[in-house]
Amino acid sequence: MSEAERATPFGVYIHWPFCLSKCPYCDFNSHVRQAAIDEPRFVAAFTAEIAATAQRIPGRTVSTIFFGGGTPSLMRPDTVGAILDAVGRHWAIASDVEITLEANPTSVEAARFRGYRAAGVNRVSLGVQSLDDAVLKELGRLHTAREALDAVAIARAIFPRYSFDLIYARPRQTLAAWRSELVAALVHAGEHLSLYQLTIEPETPFAALHASGKLVLPDDDLGRALYDTTLDQCAAAGLPAYEISNHARPGGECRHNLVYWRYGEYAGIGPGAHGRLIVDGTRRATATEKRPEAWLMRVESRGHGVTVDDALSRDEQADELLLMGLRLAEGIDPRRYAAFAGRPLDAERIAALAGHGFVETTADGRLRVTRSGFPVLDAVVADLAA
Ligand SMILES: C[S@@+](CC[C@H](N)C(=O)[O-])C[C@H]1O[C@@H](n2cnc3c(N)ncnc32)[C@H](O)[C@@H]1O
Ligand code: SF4
Repeated sequence: MSEAERATPFGVYIHWPFCLSKCPYCDFNSHVRQAAIDEPRFVAAFTAEIAATAQRIPGRTVSTIFFGGGTPSLMRPDTVGAILDAVGRHWAIASDVEITLEANPTSVEAARFRGYRAAGVNRVSLGVQSLDDAVLKELGRLHTAREALDAVAIARAIFPRYSFDLIYARPRQTLAAWRSELVAALVHAGEHLSLYQLTIEPETPFAALHASGKLVLPDDDLGRALYDTTLDQCAAAGLPAYEISNHARPGGECRHNLVYWRYGEYAGIGPGAHGRLIVDGTRRATATEKRPEAWLMRVESRGHGVTVDDALSRDEQADELLLMGLRLAEGIDPRRYAAFAGRPLDAERIAALAGHGFVETTADGRLRVTRSGFPVLDAVVADLAA
């Protein structure tokens, strides 16, 4: 694929900021509300923000749409349909558009899957997290392993494509236990799996437990062994890692997330959504008001909820290209870095990192991180960007 083709895809991210309860490890922009959510009011606000964004970047063809959260599977299917209609009124929609919705795997949510499919969703991503009921409880999840696997089976029957997420490197998790959990998960996998190492996010209940010594995570050696077995087992099952935490059969990659990682153009719609818009040839970083009710009021008074709208310098774009692209197994094209930065990557730094076995240059000249480099990816990126 040429660089021009890579740059063409355009994604639309829609953020639904509500959950039934807050998981103790999660720091995403998600909120619990006792009162019912006024979905028609949200639809009107999403529609206005889509219109305002399309006015800034008209004439795009949408290749991917992603409903993320929070818990988008709490939305009524007609809410999802109305938002998709709004996207289609302002931009052209590619004939092979990928429309993903993140779902929590409870039976109540699975009951809405047919409605989402009828609204146009053609891919679901389910937050299974674990196949062990005791662990699910500890993670604050509202579903059992049985319920999750039932939701996966319903998703497989209804949607052309599905994926599910698991979290590993959890407290007290042994290598043997993760190996067998992953074997069980792979039986139910379709073309895609997201496997995340548990991260302790600041100011979450897990961070407090961790600080007080009550939540002990795997040490570096075990973390590395867990990561290695994850790569090996998924590759053996035909789903190699195409990104540090994402595994797919060739062709089954999440095209929306590839837009981010290949540093393409995307619009962020809804509370706390981020975008990268190319306006008059300049790439801009956008972000919206995070608090749902404040976002609603802002959109209702100004027509959009944007609070950040910064032109990115050439260096900033070059750094973002590294940060996103080096997560991918395919790596980056160093010529694209040079075009952004106005200078090539530092050959000595690359040679030093390659000497440690952390990066390699492919036959077609791409720079990518190796298996040994992925566990220290942040340091590799920081070194190259310095
Ligand atoms: C923000 S959630 C949204 C989807 C949905 N609400 C859910 O929980 O299933 C997206 C995914 O991020 C992952 N995630 C969230 N917080 C994490 C953390 N602290 N460490 C590792 N993975 C995390 C989970 O696997 C989750 O499925
Ligand atoms: S992990 Fe998912 S369900 Fe749990 S609080 Fe975060 S967004 Fe909500």
